[in-house]
Amino acid sequence: MKKIPVILLGAGGVGRALLQQIIDGRPNVADRNNLEFQLVAVADSRRWLYTANGIDDATIAAIIDRKKRREPLGEERPDVAGMVDQAIADGHANGILVDVTAQSDMEPALNHALANGWSVALANKKPFAGAWETAEPFFGNAAVRHESTVGGGQPVIATLRYLLDTNDAPTRIQGQLSGTLGYLCQRMDDGVDFSKAVAEAKAKGFTEPDPREDLGGMDVMRKVLILARMSGWQLEASDIEVESLFSKSLSHLSVPEFMAASRSLDPSMRDRVQAAHEEGMVLRYVADVSADGGKVGLQAIPNTSSLANLKFISFTTTHYHDEPLMLVGKGAGVGMTAAGVIGDMIGLARELF
Ligand SMILES: NC(=O)c1ccc[n+]([C@@H]2O[C@H](COP(=O)([O-])OP(=O)(O)OC[C@H]3O[C@@H](n4cnc5c(N)ncnc54)[C@H](OP(=O)(O)O)[C@@H]3O)[C@@H](O)[C@H]2O)c1
Repeated sequence: MKKIPVILLGAGGVGRALLQQIIDGRPNVADRNNLEFQLVAVADSRRWLYTANGIDDATIAAIIDRKKRREPLGEERPDVAGMVDQAIADGHANGILVDVTAQSDMEPALNHALANGWSVALANKKPFAGAWETAEPFFGNAAVRHESTVGGGQPVIATLRYLLDTNDAPTRIQGQLSGTLGYLCQRMDDGVDFSKAVAEAKAKGFTEPDPREDLGGMDVMRKVLILARMSGWQLEASDIEVESLFSKSLSHLSVPEFMAASRSLDPSMRDRVQAAHEEGMVLRYVADVSADGGKVGLQAIPNTSSLANLKFISFTTTHYHDEPLMLVGKGAGVGMTAAGVIGDMIGLARELF
């Protein structure tokens, strides 16, 4: 049985789900692929737990519990490059560095791992969505997998890779890529005011702790930029027009202040929803990108259109030119996101080890 060393960065919602799936999935991974993931390190923002010959499952379960209670991990940690160096010094010449953080400064560490023979699997979108100059090394690199960066575990990246491999590159990509914004739009269709829908989504845990992270549209922009760059369109973030669902004047407020002030956005949003309904349309937060650039924002679309589905992505290509190839599904939540990362880890282990 092949043992694949793994360093996990991030033990939040996705990281904990991934740890659980590593334990639960052991028999399946062994039966189907003759592989075993040997978790040598788990790190959070400040600390890590490292065991050169693999952390045992009872300890992994204890880590999950500890991080669920927001308690810190074992010891103060080195920087990420130092973690990889430590694993290499202990005999792990190659392995998989898994990034399920939401950090924006990971590029040097990822490059260090790649340069030293390790592979990387990410749910973190940010390394792919920075300036093209820094993101480029992660595209078209067989040692980099990132299924869960778009579609929350639905095989969106795998589908796009298949299209590219079969010489059927997209000419246009559209979709509703945010479950959170999809939920808000649907609640507004039901007559719920914008601010109330935001408060509901926050209470249900659908939004980031600061809902402006979702409402600003940057997360959707990053997803569509990743798909565009995979398609060979070397766009920058500035090539994608992003509509924020809150005004700049609300950006400096604390979260509770913002939640209260968001009521000021209700009348104009109500008007837009109503105007759409009068035309037989619904408002949806849609991403639309092609080689020249893209747009991410609210659009009125026919309520009979497939675009009105909650979460969806469509690829228009040479073969799929009259009827785009569609992926429609749930695609949300930490479990599915972690499953996408596990799929990447298995793919890397199969192909590269
Ligand atoms: N949640 C979803 O459904 C979903 C879906 C698709 C994609 N994603 C993506 O998956 C990633 C993780 O999401 P999440 O919901 O699990 O986030 P989260 O709950 O905020 O967890 C982030 C984790 O990263 C750790 N961390 C921060 N900086 C680090 C560093 N430099 N080195 C190592 N660990 C570090 C944090 O440490 P502390 O514990 O010390 O704070 C925390 O454990 C994000 O990029 C997100 O966009 C999430």
